[in-house]
Amino acid sequence: MEEARRKAYLTAMGITVWQRRDPPAAVAPETMVSEAESLPAPERTAGERTLVETTATAPMAESAADQWSDLRRRVSACSACSLRAGCTQTVFGVGNTQADLLIIGEAPGADEDRQGEPFVGPAGQLLNAMLLAMGFQREAVFIANIVKCRPPSNRNPKQEEALQCEPFLLQQIALTQPKVILSLGAVSAHNLLKTDIPVGRLRGRIHNYGDSAIPLVVTYHPAYLLRSPEQKAKSWQDLQLALSLLREQ
Ligand code: URA
Repeated sequence: MEEARRKAYLTAMGITVWQRRDPPAAVAPETMVSEAESLPAPERTAGERTLVETTATAPMAESAADQWSDLRRRVSACSACSLRAGCTQTVFGVGNTQADLLIIGEAPGADEDRQGEPFVGPAGQLLNAMLLAMGFQREAVFIANIVKCRPPSNRNPKQEEALQCEPFLLQQIALTQPKVILSLGAVSAHNLLKTDIPVGRLRGRIHNYGDSAIPLVVTYHPAYLLRSPEQKAKSWQDLQLALSLLREQ
């Protein structure tokens, strides 16, 4: 991975990166933590080893609840891109932090920006109905977006904005460890799968997300389905595909 991006990920995760001296100074093995051990699953890469700050008094493992609240705090404090200056508040994500099903949309809209919760407007109402059709209450899944701040005039997030925000989503995925990811719409699918293939060709099949190869299903964004209700049948096929994957796990 490109060095600057790797550092941005680590910084956003709250990990202090120490520069290895050359030749390396003698360091007691117990004060070293490999990057592979310190990063969540999707970020683990064999071979790369970095010293990260540890102290004798630091707790060995932060609880999952602590990691979630730390992440939430870092998202709300983030001003890495210009979106934060134009939005009311960050929209972290909502739901069951141990959900089997993780829903990933695009970006907060006006309603979400006001309420601080994803998918609470008209598209959210349809998403709730889609989830109920699958047999899920909204509270049973986790719902997040590619970016945590509302873009001005509801434009699509720019690539650099999505990349700045990506470490937060990566950590949400790593902490949730979902069995299946459902990606809603083009912005979500393109950023998660690093492709620009149209949603119509990405939907209807199983993709694997990241190094941990979490099964990922793409479907149409609920806002698009509100405008093109004739596509709902195809979306239902996608939801059934996601359900069949959940039953397999
Ligand atoms: N559309 C999205 O992609 N996310 C939201 O939170 C709301 C609408």
